[in-house]
Amino acid sequence: MTKPFQKVDRSQFRHEHLIGIDQLSAEEIAIILDLADYYADRLDEKSFKPDILRGDIVLSLFFEDSTRTRTSFEVAAKRLGADWVNIDIDTSSVKKGESLLDTVMTLHAMLRPDAIIMRHKEYGAPEFIAKHVGCPVINAGDSWREHPTQALLDALTMMRNKGRLEGLNVAICGDIAHSRVASSNMILLTKMGANVRVIAPPVLMPEKFPAEGVTGYHDMNEGLKDCDIVMTIRLQKERIESGVIESTEAFFNEYRLTPERMAHARPDALIMDPGPIIRGEQISDELADDPDRSLILQQVRNGVPVRMAALDLLLKNR
Ligand code: CP
Repeated sequence: MTKPFQKVDRSQFRHEHLIGIDQLSAEEIAIILDLADYYADRLDEKSFKPDILRGDIVLSLFFEDSTRTRTSFEVAAKRLGADWVNIDIDTSSVKKGESLLDTVMTLHAMLRPDAIIMRHKEYGAPEFIAKHVGCPVINAGDSWREHPTQALLDALTMMRNKGRLEGLNVAICGDIAHSRVASSNMILLTKMGANVRVIAPPVLMPEKFPAEGVTGYHDMNEGLKDCDIVMTIRLQKERIESGVIESTEAFFNEYRLTPERMAHARPDALIMDPGPIIRGEQISDELADDPDRSLILQQVRNGVPVRMAALDLLLKNR
């Protein structure tokens, strides 16, 4: 991989929290990606445990389900030497009616955490909590608004495979309107100079894009033309009101990424999906499992170094 960001100065990253890509400049995104790239290069060395967060406590509060994000934050925190405390919301006193703020302040009083990783279905919940606690808060996904570390790991994956972000033609297709991943990716990729298109039917297209310069398409073949990267997004059923999609079968017939549709992208185009992949829905098995073109498992792997970089910068630059 080329190393386009090697001369970045980490002292220029001055954020207390990581709530959204919208708060970051292109230079700050480059600082995170540069450090993540450093960690990614060393991830296979089992003895590489920098231990820079020894004695620190990272509190994990996932009010929505997760496999990739929560586990990779845990691995990242532990590789940096931190203690990891995960609260199982399903067996907590939230179920008895304790409020979000009371739950967080109770745990804050008990643990005095050095960082809180939080996922919540409500728009802006991590930002709200950040105003009440005395430690960095990292948004691990709120509603359909933002999932900043996912966009950062997607960008790292693109860079490590294509050597750049600037000038890349990236198509994001599927349920754009309800996807926080699509939203954070639109913001990040346009800031970094990529050409971003989103492809969705009118009912799953946002009324307004979260970034300038994004182009919308309703036709897969048209939107995929000459793309370098194609990212599929699952139907976010947990956030869609019933009746919005008349027929999911008809939707997938028109918007599933198939080899025939992929042929409209560049011959060396690569395939991404933040996961979870729902088999039989947003992407054909043949493409999802293509060992030469699918970067899906690389994305999962890159979640660890990106989250190591985020924890390192937020906790050690203070
Ligand atoms: N991509 C993503 O956020 O996956 P999880 O929901 O499994 O964390």
